[in-house]
Amino acid sequence: MTNNKFISNNIDNIALAAAAIKNGSVVGFPTETVYGLGADATNPKACLEIYNLKQRPANNPLIVHFASIDEVQEYAVLNSDAISLAKVFWPGPLTLILPIREGSNISTTATAGLPTIGIRIPNHPVALELIRKSECPIAAPSANVSGYISPTSSKHVREAFPNIIVLDGTRSKVGLESTILDLSGSSPQILRPGFITKEALESVLKQQVFDHISSKVIAPGMMYKHYSPKTKLILNIKNPPPSALALNFGSSNLTGVYSLNLSKKGDLIEAASNLYYMLRELDDYAIANSIEYIIVAPIPNISIGIAINERLNKAASN
Ligand code: TXA
Ligand code: MG
Repeated sequence: MTNNKFISNNIDNIALAAAAIKNGSVVGFPTETVYGLGADATNPKACLEIYNLKQRPANNPLIVHFASIDEVQEYAVLNSDAISLAKVFWPGPLTLILPIREGSNISTTATAGLPTIGIRIPNHPVALELIRKSECPIAAPSANVSGYISPTSSKHVREAFPNIIVLDGTRSKVGLESTILDLSGSSPQILRPGFITKEALESVLKQQVFDHISSKVIAPGMMYKHYSPKTKLILNIKNPPPSALALNFGSSNLTGVYSLNLSKKGDLIEAASNLYYMLRELDDYAIANSIEYIIVAPIPNISIGIAINERLNKAASN
């Protein structure tokens, strides 16, 4: 393993990171959603190292990243719905759950032994170049310790995993993890909301898309507390405690010892892009100054606001 290797995204460094992936190492890399912690998805030992680093439960499968639809076809069975969505949304922030192609050499450690595989082609030049140069699919969860806020900058990844290679990129533009759509059942079902909304999916599929029924666990990751700052997060508060930090949206004016605004102009896309970054900033501030709470203004539950609220609700739950 390479110690304290912080490398930027020039071609040589991507080649170095790809060589590390081929060697069975774990590498941090940027995507447009959040940063990923990647390893060769056909190498069980390398995939196991991701679970160990993240302290991730073994029954929570990893999303596998590809650089082209042709490569995806070698590992998964794409029906006509999958092909239509792939043409419109890939590369991009959409993960499709599909049946694994028989005989594929994907590691069962990556898929947690499920008959399906979660697949995405990320829309980020560094991620795509890394996948191409690694010459293998890359299994990659978000590059955070399980349960904590997902990373949107290389600094976040280096802080959590100082002993791995981390490729630099700009701050993740989307700022929230991909929408996960399960296409392996009788009807399409959203397992995790994201930047690609239900309406956008329905307009391509020309059929109804369903929300995940929470009593039935399909994405094992949904069982766990997620996206949480160390400081207690309080949503929909009526009487703010005197010592709190505030996260506003639009014209809301929660006042705290220190406050940030997800989007002063009330733009949900901007708010999504800022969510994890600002939650981390507030969490660091709260820890440094012994402040107990972060209070968050209401976010409209429409469009990408649905994904923002899903993350906030999980982050605030005990
Ligand atoms: O935007 C993203 O999706 C980021 C970047 C790095 O691509 N990745 C990401 O991975 O968010 P992670 O591991 O943090 O979340 C993956 C989710 C988990 O909830 C997992 O249970 C679910 O995807 N998942 C993966 N494979 C699955 C499968 N075969 N069936 C159901 N859920 C699956
Ligand atoms: Mg995650």
